[in-house]
Parts: sequence; C-alpha cells; structure tokens
Amino acid sequence: MISVKNLSAAYRDNKVLDNISFDNIEPGTLITLIGPNGAGKSTFFKCLAGIHDLDSGNVYFKDKDIVNISSYDLAQEICYMPQNTYTNAALTVFEVILMSQKFSSGGKVNNDDIEMVSKLLEALKLEEFASRYLSELSGGQRQLVSLAQALIRKPSVLLLDEPTSALDLNHQIESLDLISYVIKEMKIVCIIALHDLSLAGKYSDYIMVLDKGKLVDYGKPKDVLSIDMLKTVYHVKAKIYNDEEGTYINPYKSLTSDESSLAEITKCIKN
Ligand SMILES: Nc1ncnc2c1ncn2[C@@H]1O[C@H](COP(=O)(O)OP(=O)(O)OP(=O)(O)O)[C@@H](O)[C@H]1O
Ligand SMILES: [Mg+2]
Repeated sequence: MISVKNLSAAYRDNKVLDNISFDNIEPGTLITLIGPNGAGKSTFFKCLAGIHDLDSGNVYFKDKDIVNISSYDLAQEICYMPQNTYTNAALTVFEVILMSQKFSSGGKVNNDDIEMVSKLLEALKLEEFASRYLSELSGGQRQLVSLAQALIRKPSVLLLDEPTSALDLNHQIESLDLISYVIKEMKIVCIIALHDLSLAGKYSDYIMVLDKGKLVDYGKPKDVLSIDMLKTVYHVKAKIYNDEEGTYINPYKSLTSDESSLAEITKCIKN
C-alpha cells in the first residue's frame, strides 16, 4: 500500500529526516512510530502525506510515486491527523465531521452521510457535544473529534500524530481499540505516533523507531522494545514486562537528569 525509498527531508538547511526506507506495508497493518521529541515523527507524516517536500527519495502509494498523484487525489487516500488541531472556526462538532465526510464523498452530502456522522458520534460517545462549537470543548474532546474526522474519510492510509496525547486512560484505550478494530475490518494501513510505549507494545503489529531523523529500528513490539533501545534512544533505564496482552515499559531512571543539573536549574529560576 505505502512504501518509502531513501527519504530525506529538511527545514531549510536543517536536515531532519535522513535516508529512511521501508517496504510496502500490507493493508490492515497497525504500525506505531515512536521516538523522542524532535526525532522527526511529525515531519515524517507530513512527507508521507505529501505536504512537506522531500530533499531526496520517494514515497510510493500503491507503487506510484506520490509526486505523480494530484494533491486532491492523495488527500482522499492518505489522511493525516496533525498533532495539534487548534481551530477557532465557528463550527459545531457535527459540522466539522460532516465536512470531513463531504470531502471524501466529493462534495455531495446525503442522508447516509448524516447518519454515518451520527453513528460515529455515538461510537465515540460524543453525541451530547454534536451541536457544541469546537471552542467549547475540552482538549481531549477536541482530539476525539479530530479522530472522528479522520476515520469518517475512510482513507487507505491513516496517519495519526499522537491521537491520544490529551485523552484520559479509558479514552486512550477506547480510541485505540476503535482504531485497531476499524483498520483491520477496513484493511487500512495505519501509522500512529505515540509516546506511550506500553500502548505501542499493546496495539502495534510493528513499531518503527525514529531517532535524530533516522529509522533506527523496525520490527515486532517484543523485539523492538528492549532495555538497550530505551537506553540508547530515550536515555532511560526501564523494566520491561511481557505477557499475552502486550509489552509493558516501566521507566524508572533518567540517564540525563541528575541532582546537580536539577540544582543548577533551580538556582537559575531562583535568581
Ligand atoms: N516548521 C518548522 N520549521 C523549522 N524546523 C522545524 C519545523 N517543524 C519542526 N522542525 C524541527 O524539525 C525537527 C523534527 O521535528 P518534528 O516535529 O518532526 O519532531 P517530532 O518527532 O514530531 O517531535 P515531538 O515528539 O515533539 O512531536 C525538530 O528539530 C524541530 O525543531
Ligand atoms: Mg510531533
């Protein structure tokens, strides 16, 4: 469905993605993209969605280089849900989800579309907010609306940039259950950026690890989530537990913070 060959990208002369390649991802696969802040995850998504130009390399959708696909057609197939989706638009929850649906149905809205929006609002337990303005929602509720906007477009490839970062524990699990169910049923390729590595371990078919713009590992969760990787990529000491439900990470020590640096920062704030 989607593959990448020798992808490099930059912001002006600051190179942030360096020679990334991976082979075709099969439909119905859920991949988690992990890596520290600034590793390049959001930029990588923008490159895959065709909204950030590559310095070199290629992104292929169904074996066609995306530079040869019109931006309208590409947006129908590859849906990117950005990390921050702040908007001041005076639109209600129902309206923004319907607008997303309208985009994928070529501008025509019929009763089925309206019913689908209602059903999705129900599934995400957002019915009570249907006629609220976006500006009247909490951060987590907004994030659920963004997820609804992405799912209703029924893309072939779904790129979700930290879709659960503002959600409480139950909503995180409910949302990831829904995402993983939908993408298996509808044979969608889904790549999700997550900072919660235990959730990555529980839900992923595969995990990609991005560090300083390089794809440093790509494999099954139990192979990728290792004590060594947590030390070299995240600079933390952690314990790892495996059971039939997944792989769980318990970080307990930062290798970059120590008492003298904490004292230094406190001194700086005090003065
Ligand atoms: N619009 C921009 N202009 C210039 N540099 C940028 C821009 N956006 C991101 N960067 C830089 O590119 C690098 C990668 O950023 P990116 O947002 O892709 O990281 P990330 O892995 O998504 O991080 P996070 O986990 O914090 O969301 C960072 O060093 C960042 O400062
Ligand atoms: Mg990001």
